[in-house]
Amino acid sequence: MKIQIRKFDETKDTRILEYQPNRIIIDTTGGKMSSSFNQSDFHKILTSDGIWIALDEDKIIGAVLFGKYARENPTCIAIYGIRVDEPYRRRGIGGILLQKVDMYARREGIDLIILHTKPDNIASLTLFKKAGYIITENSSDKLKLIKKVRTR
Ligand SMILES: CC(C)(COP(=O)(O)OP(=O)(O)OC[C@H]1O[C@@H](n2cnc3c(N)ncnc32)[C@H](O)[C@@H]1OP(=O)(O)O)[C@@H](O)C(=O)NCCC(=O)NCCS
Repeated sequence: MKIQIRKFDETKDTRILEYQPNRIIIDTTGGKMSSSFNQSDFHKILTSDGIWIALDEDKIIGAVLFGKYARENPTCIAIYGIRVDEPYRRRGIGGILLQKVDMYARREGIDLIILHTKPDNIASLTLFKKAGYIITENSSDKLKLIKKVRTR
C-alpha cells in the first residue's frame, strides 16, 4: 500500500468538500470531519495550503484542516480538524499531517498552533502530545492544546 500525502487541490479534489449552511464537511472515504464555519467564514480562515490530504491510490483516507485563528494574534493558527480513516490508523499518517501544519507555521513565521479536542479522545490526545502540544485549558468536555513553534 502506497500512501501519498499532498496539498488539497481545489480543481481536482472538490468532491471532498461539502458546504452546509453553518458547517463545512470534509469527506474522507471512511467518514466525515466537520467544522462549524459557514462558507464565507471558511474562506476567510483558510490559508493557502490549509488542507492536506492522505490518499491510498485515488481514495482520500485522511485529512487535516488548519487556518487563521482570529481571536488571537495573527501569528497564531488553529487546527480545525484532523482525521485518518480507521483501517489506516497507527501507521504514522496523523503524525505526518501534523508535520505539514508545522511546516506551514515555520515558513510563515507563526508562533503558536492551537487546537481543541475532547478529554476522552485518547488517540488524538496522545498524537498531539507526542507532536509537542501541551494542554493549556482543561474543562470536562473540552481541552485546549497549544504548540509553540520553534523558528530556526
Ligand atoms: C487521532 C487520529 C487522527 C490519529 O491518526 P493516526 O494516523 O492513527 O496517528 P499516528 O499513526 O500518526 O499516531 C501517532 C502516535 O499517536 C498515538 N496514538 C494514535 N492513535 C492512538 C490510539 N488509538 N491510542 C493511543 N495512542 C494513539 C501513538 O503514540 C502513535 O504512535 P505509535 O503508533 O508509534 O504508538 C485518528 O485516530 C483519527 O482520525 N481519529 C478520529 C478523528 C479524531 O478524533 N480527530 C481528532 C479530533 S481533534
